[in-house]
Amino acid sequence: MESRTPSESKTVLTDLVLPSETNPLNNLFGGELLARMDRAASIAARRHSRRIVVTASVNHVAFNKTIALGSVVTVEAKISRAFKTSMEIYIDVWIEDRESGICSKANEAIYTFVAVNEQGQPVPVPPVTPETDNEKERYDGALRRKQLSLVLAGKMQPNDATELKALFT
Ligand SMILES: CC(C)(COP(=O)(O)OP(=O)(O)OC[C@H]1O[C@@H](n2cnc3c(N)ncnc32)[C@H](O)[C@@H]1OP(=O)(O)O)[C@@H](O)C(=O)NCCC(=O)NCCS
Repeated sequence: MESRTPSESKTVLTDLVLPSETNPLNNLFGGELLARMDRAASIAARRHSRRIVVTASVNHVAFNKTIALGSVVTVEAKISRAFKTSMEIYIDVWIEDRESGICSKANEAIYTFVAVNEQGQPVPVPPVTPETDNEKERYDGALRRKQLSLVLAGKMQPNDATELKALFT
């Protein structure tokens, strides 16, 4: 299967924060942000694999900054690495300053998607060729994060997690 670059899967969703999407402090509700990230990431995974994709796990979410009512929020999703049937998708969240128009990073997350056939069975996906330094860095760390996710899910024995063990030896 021919490899694809992360920029081929890049997906950008920009939307406002409305009153129905906020918590009692008038900031964006965490679950709403998770849904927006899931939507953008699933489109990126679909663009890379050109298959039906399902969310297999949410590996990391950092709610570093609050996002106020009325903010313009941009969710940017890109594949960082593909394995046999699974894909790691990196999501960066930006908020846009009204006066300057400058975007600053608010949050980030890492989701794993699996490509499946019409019966829901996993199917192979094309490999990823990272281009930029940032893409290469994310690509290099992806196997370690996959092993951590599988260990935490009870789907891999810690002894088999070679990348994790290498961190401590
Ligand atoms: C995701 C799903 C297809 C995996 O099916 P499965 O029978 O466990 O298949 P496998 O064990 O062969 O795993 C398939 C791939 O997913 C990866 N995977 C499974 N669970 C994972 C996890 N928790 N973290 C990271 N990767 C995971 C496996 O490592 C494998 O990757 P690879 O083929 O690239 O090496 C299946 O569990 C499923 O359909 N889940 C429900 C998905 C869904 O409905 N999501 C929306 C939630 S509302």
